[in-house]
Amino acid sequence: MSAPAPARKFKNPRAKHGFQGRTCSIIGVGSYLPERIVTNADLALMVDTSDEWIISRTGIKERRLAAKDQYTSDLGAAAAKRALENAGILAEEIDLIIVATITPDMPFPSTACLVQQKIGARKAAAFDIEAACSGFIFGLEIGQQFIMSRTYNTVLVIGAEKLSTIIDWKDRNTCVLFGDGAGAAILQHRPDAHGLLTACMGSDGNKADLLSMPGGGSKCPATMESVHAKLHYLRMDGKETFKNAVNAMYVAAEEALRRCELEIGQIKCVIPHQANRRIIDAVADRLGVTEQQLFVNLHRYGNTSAASVAIALDEAVQEKRIERGDLVLLVVFGAGLTWGAAVIEW
Ligand code: ACO
Repeated sequence: MSAPAPARKFKNPRAKHGFQGRTCSIIGVGSYLPERIVTNADLALMVDTSDEWIISRTGIKERRLAAKDQYTSDLGAAAAKRALENAGILAEEIDLIIVATITPDMPFPSTACLVQQKIGARKAAAFDIEAACSGFIFGLEIGQQFIMSRTYNTVLVIGAEKLSTIIDWKDRNTCVLFGDGAGAAILQHRPDAHGLLTACMGSDGNKADLLSMPGGGSKCPATMESVHAKLHYLRMDGKETFKNAVNAMYVAAEEALRRCELEIGQIKCVIPHQANRRIIDAVADRLGVTEQQLFVNLHRYGNTSAASVAIALDEAVQEKRIERGDLVLLVVFGAGLTWGAAVIEW
């Protein structure tokens, strides 16, 4: 990422709103996946399912599960260290750490503070955000705002999840879908560099019931009864989630492209939230995205919620699917409901 920036081919839509000269670049990305692989065949020994059902309905072949003593902050810290190495900067240079997660180590302190300690980012402020699977793009947008407002120079955004701790491993409707992992990006203002062109976010609390974990908060604190009623596990209306995901991701992607005055054909790499191959294909179909443009890794990791597009972005860079000057579209959807999209000039 240290090669000189090619001449800008695309206008920064922020410039229209008076933000000239304060771009926000992604100067390094990194990811971490736990070692343990759980295949569909392994799951078929635990619940009434099959490799054929899972692949045909979701596209997932295997997922990674964190060790018992490996927490969300450990996954996040490991991804952050790789992002720092790729960016060529020290942890001491980070001004702000934002961790997007629905599976924090504990309700408080924040996972971001625990990551701060683990990577030695002594001067950073740190906090968590919660926007479920949309969290990484929400984090990018928040980080960008701090950089554009000149409050901070260097922001670390992490999407990290240990979803295996909120999955009912006896429920075949949900346990086949999810995995653990983390991805990270380092944002910095670089005067000559390319960066985030736009990020848009959306929410609809009217549909909060579609995807939730009812237990463990102020509405339903942990009791013997709440544990017996399995209220501390993820619940989902799969069919309705599916329909809403396709629509929201399409609308978010169109909005991000419209803001940048770009056509989908100009995008080199489209990285959608890795929840389900059929959702990805339906969104790609509506947007007119080709197979060559699409980046998919969910067959290896399943749905890692806030970590999903962060891991995929890192892998796309490592695999040289994205190179300097390319346009990248990220598009996400999650519980809340929440959704978002971002266009990056790499
Ligand atoms: N193995 C075998 N059979 C299964 C399994 C399984 N793992 N899971 C469900 N079934 C059964 C059901 O019980 C049902 O049986 P029945 O007809 O006898 O009742 C049958 O398969 C069909 O179930 P459907 O729900 O109709 O299956 P569908 O084709 O809708 O696929 C799925 C289910 C994969 C969950 C789909 O609805 C989906 O992907 N939804 C979106 C989920 C998602 O992406 N969630 C994450 C969003 S992001 C976030 O914030 C977490």
